[in-house]
Amino acid sequence: MKVLVLGGDGFCGWPCAVNLADAGHDVVVVDNLSRRKIDIDLEVESLTPITSISERLRAWEQVGGKAMRFVHLDIAHEYDRLLELLRSERPDSVVHFAEQRAAPYSMKSSATKRYTVDNNVNGTHNLLAAIVESGLDVHIVHLGTMGVYGYGSHRGATIPEGYLTVEVPQADGSRFTEKILHPTDPGSVYHMTKTLDQLLFFYYNKNDAIRVTDLHQGIVWGTNTALTDRDPRLTNRFDYDGDYGTVLNRFLMQAAIGYPLTVHGTGGQTRAFIHIRDSVRCVQLALENPPTSGEKVKIFNQMTESHQVGQLAQKVADLTGAEIRYQANPRKEAIENDLIVDNRCFIELGLKPTTLDDGLLAEVVDVARRWADRCDRSRIPCLSAWTTRQAEALRTHA
Ligand SMILES: NC(=O)c1ccc[n+]([C@@H]2O[C@H](COP(=O)([O-])OP(=O)(O)OC[C@H]3O[C@@H](n4cnc5c(N)ncnc54)[C@H](O)[C@@H]3O)[C@@H](O)[C@H]2O)c1
Repeated sequence: MKVLVLGGDGFCGWPCAVNLADAGHDVVVVDNLSRRKIDIDLEVESLTPITSISERLRAWEQVGGKAMRFVHLDIAHEYDRLLELLRSERPDSVVHFAEQRAAPYSMKSSATKRYTVDNNVNGTHNLLAAIVESGLDVHIVHLGTMGVYGYGSHRGATIPEGYLTVEVPQADGSRFTEKILHPTDPGSVYHMTKTLDQLLFFYYNKNDAIRVTDLHQGIVWGTNTALTDRDPRLTNRFDYDGDYGTVLNRFLMQAAIGYPLTVHGTGGQTRAFIHIRDSVRCVQLALENPPTSGEKVKIFNQMTESHQVGQLAQKVADLTGAEIRYQANPRKEAIENDLIVDNRCFIELGLKPTTLDDGLLAEVVDVARRWADRCDRSRIPCLSAWTTRQAEALRTHA
């Protein structure tokens, strides 16, 4: 299968591209390297030393991997080049990772809010419009987020895979049932762009019969896969800073350097998680099981387990002896939430999840401790506040 991997230089995209090439697919990596530029602006680097994209691709071939090509392209702003790329490559599928993906970064300033909306919504829309204009039948696999469902109370209900069955009362007292897109409840500008993506897919699927699989992914933890472990030049990135670091990887790195684990608020927030190895496997499963022509958007909940943030910190503390420090919460969010998730689709397709209990210790020892001396402690605190009220709380509790 010919596959374009948009955002294929990123944390989820790079191991995914390598995995697809290893499975024999013809892979073209497309990226504008904006994530690397944001690191320069934020004056922070991945905890793991990552090589340039050309070095990565060279190393991959040198270890015997099937060659991949790279196209430097901004999908949000270079529409004509994107269309030309589709016409010349005629891909069977496009995996779309190419978005600004950090909620804290999206809330940092009006400039980063506007950048996130412009980049993410235009990028997704450009891809859909270009596929229609190309006349090709391309399957899009998009990386969305579990955050589209919201982290408020679901009153104990299980979150279905994208669609909710509702009963609609009629004036005459009768009722009919209908499957609708699950209502969205974004918790940041970043999450809002993902809910807008979802609507764009719904519309283009209805109007132009574009085939889409939208993966509502949980927070990804871990760093490498067996393939990116083959050579140090293939190493994946590990973000630990206050804007891009995700909660579990931050705890692991903090434990490795003897920094108290930073729990925001009460720690009662519940989130869904998935290991990078499983994320990569899910994308391959989604690609190899596409929707049929005329089928509505397929939505999978791409997560394997849910945990409360405070309990997660306790787990890491028990494993490593780290101290836990509760801090003011930079986010405007529910103090506590429930999150019961249906993830049957991937399990039925054969996913065998890597659980926290299997993988945590290896991650602390192999990655976080190994690169601990590359950590800049001044970049650990989360300083991007959701509103002026949260900003004030951060200042008073600093
Ligand atoms: N990392 C997670 O925990 C997580 C969780 C849920 C969903 N996701 C989703 O998965 C996708 C990938 O996330 P990630 O963690 O790999 O992020 P990342 O920032 O590491 O990777 C995104 C890649 O896309 C590229 N990119 C961004 N805008 C682009 C544009 N306009 N044109 C071309 N390339 C562009 C960046 O340079 C980067 O290499 C995102 O859409 C994200 O929302 C990630």
